[in-house]
Amino acid sequence: MHDLATAPRVLATPGALRLQSERWRAAGLSVALVPTMGALHAGHRSLVARARQECDRVVVSIFVNPAQFTSGDDLARYPRTLRADLALLAAEGVHAAFVPDAGAMYGSGFATAVAVGGVVTSTLEGAHRPGHFDGVALVVAKLLVAARADRAYFGEKDAQQCAVVRRLAGDLDTGTEIVVCPTVRDADGLASSSRNVHLSAAERAQALALPEGLAAAARRFAAGERSGPALAAAATAVAAACPDLIVEYVAVVDEDTFEPLAQVDSRARILVAARIGATRLIDTLCLGAADAPTTAFVVGATSPVGSEVAPAGRSRTCSVSS
Ligand code: PAJ
Repeated sequence: MHDLATAPRVLATPGALRLQSERWRAAGLSVALVPTMGALHAGHRSLVARARQECDRVVVSIFVNPAQFTSGDDLARYPRTLRADLALLAAEGVHAAFVPDAGAMYGSGFATAVAVGGVVTSTLEGAHRPGHFDGVALVVAKLLVAARADRAYFGEKDAQQCAVVRRLAGDLDTGTEIVVCPTVRDADGLASSSRNVHLSAAERAQALALPEGLAAAARRFAAGERSGPALAAAATAVAAACPDLIVEYVAVVDEDTFEPLAQVDSRARILVAARIGATRLIDTLCLGAADAPTTAFVVGATSPVGSEVAPAGRSRTCSVSS
């Protein structure tokens, strides 16, 4: 962080963003885009920090994109903390914040759709949230067109979104490199998320079964298990012990295509989605990555879940009564 925080320039329309980016590029400066929906936390901050390291100018977009929400309730209760977000961006040395309203993004008569086809959008999040990835693809396409960025930064926590965005950016020849950054976790191991603020203490204790289930699968993988269903079952068993956790899916898939894997050769992605109370959470881990972690939850750091057992006293997440 910088001692003397300079407020980022706030841009409200795609045209203003395009103009700003063109000015920077004309001056020979490289441009980074970090798309967000605000309610910024340590996960977003890690993307911004990486962008700051790698590019001369950084623009962060803050837009709660109605097109990607599949329920009006979820959209209405999505946290909005613009003042705090802008203060965080100032402290991080971000040069511009793109903060459009819905009218600036989807004006009257708006009639264009963007859809990425194939398994990558039809499975898992795509199956459980129909239309979600169409909304993501539309807004990301608009952001890439307006920002003219050299690089755009996304989080591995939303691994399926990353695969969709990579496909989109490649298919449309946007010329923007898609950079995927590791998942940041809170001190207890839960992946940082804007939605975590909705969790009660008791719900949060049960939600820890997501990272702990992934850690259980990682341990099985480290011990030589290569059956996709068996690895998924290891994670499911942990979640199943939590009575209030409703698991939507646990899947072991190919990292790029998201095809389910019966057998893992060397590398795979395991993903989990579950609901607890009114909150929906997702988490993921890469099995077999060269840089796969060997330690348990790394506090406040960019870290996938490791293969060690959870610390004593924290592993029985579901013994906590509400
Ligand atoms: P949002 O949920 O605000 O996330 C913005 C970016 O931050 C995404 O790339 C997401 O993967 C990343 N992120 C979220 N939590 C993270 C964590 N714990 N560690 C690392 N990165 C994390 O994802 C969206 O917004 C939207 O779908 C968007 C791409 C902005 C399109 O509307």
